Amino acid sequence: MYELCPETPADTPEVEALLDLCFAPGRTALSSYRLRDGVAPVRPLCLMLRNEFGALMGAIRYWPVRVGGRPVLLLGPVAVHPTTQGEGLGGLLMRESLTRAAEMGWRRVMLVGDLPYYRRFGFWKLEGVEMPPPTNPDRVLGIELAPGAWQGVAGPVEREAGDSASGNEMRRDPPAGRGCTEIEPPDHSAG
Ligand SMILES: CC(C)(COP(=O)(O)OP(=O)(O)OC[C@H]1O[C@@H](n2cnc3c(N)ncnc32)[C@H](O)[C@@H]1OP(=O)(O)O)[C@@H](O)C(=O)NCCC(=O)NCCS
Repeated sequence: MYELCPETPADTPEVEALLDLCFAPGRTALSSYRLRDGVAPVRPLCLMLRNEFGALMGAIRYWPVRVGGRPVLLLGPVAVHPTTQGEGLGGLLMRESLTRAAEMGWRRVMLVGDLPYYRRFGFWKLEGVEMPPPTNPDRVLGIELAPGAWQGVAGPVEREAGDSASGNEMRRDPPAGRGCTEIEPPDHSAG
């Protein structure tokens, strides 16, 4: 059994330790981190998975950014502890957080990552969306949470300035009182 919880500020050191374990040294030098500096994450979508012993096995985070002046969710980082990779936890974090993002009214999501992994969730290569260099444009991926949400949205990816809550086109609060939920381990054999 796993417990899925929103990340709180008290959890941050533990999540950072998991990210240090899962990513190469120097991860915070990546250009995507410059878009996050000094900007609050989208807290209800930053989720953690703990096992039955309370150990942190996976985490996903989201930040608000702008493309062409339009609000976009920047997904990442997402990480699963090396001892449990390949068991479906990454997929669970992806699907659950994207469902919640749609429930909150977010319309479009982007990330920088491997298309062979992310295409299973519906991501495709974004054309004309420019991450700060150095970023391989083939790794700039997006998904629509509302039909046509990426149509006509292009240009440089920019940091969200000011109160991100005021800028979302359809922002709704997350379902009230959403705390931790217990979930069964994913049935990875089912694909
Ligand atoms: C990427 C990551 C989050 C996936 O989590 P996970 O729990 O291992 O993923 P799942 O169990 O849901 O899916 C496993 C499948 O994804 C595939 N996969 C994992 N990473 C992949 C990648 N970079 N490219 C292509 N496929 C990948 C696995 O081969 C496996 O394929 P299968 O279903 O055909 O066996 C995890 O492997 C991880 O933390 N990696 C290190 C950090 C990282 O690279 N994060 C992503 C960049 S932001």
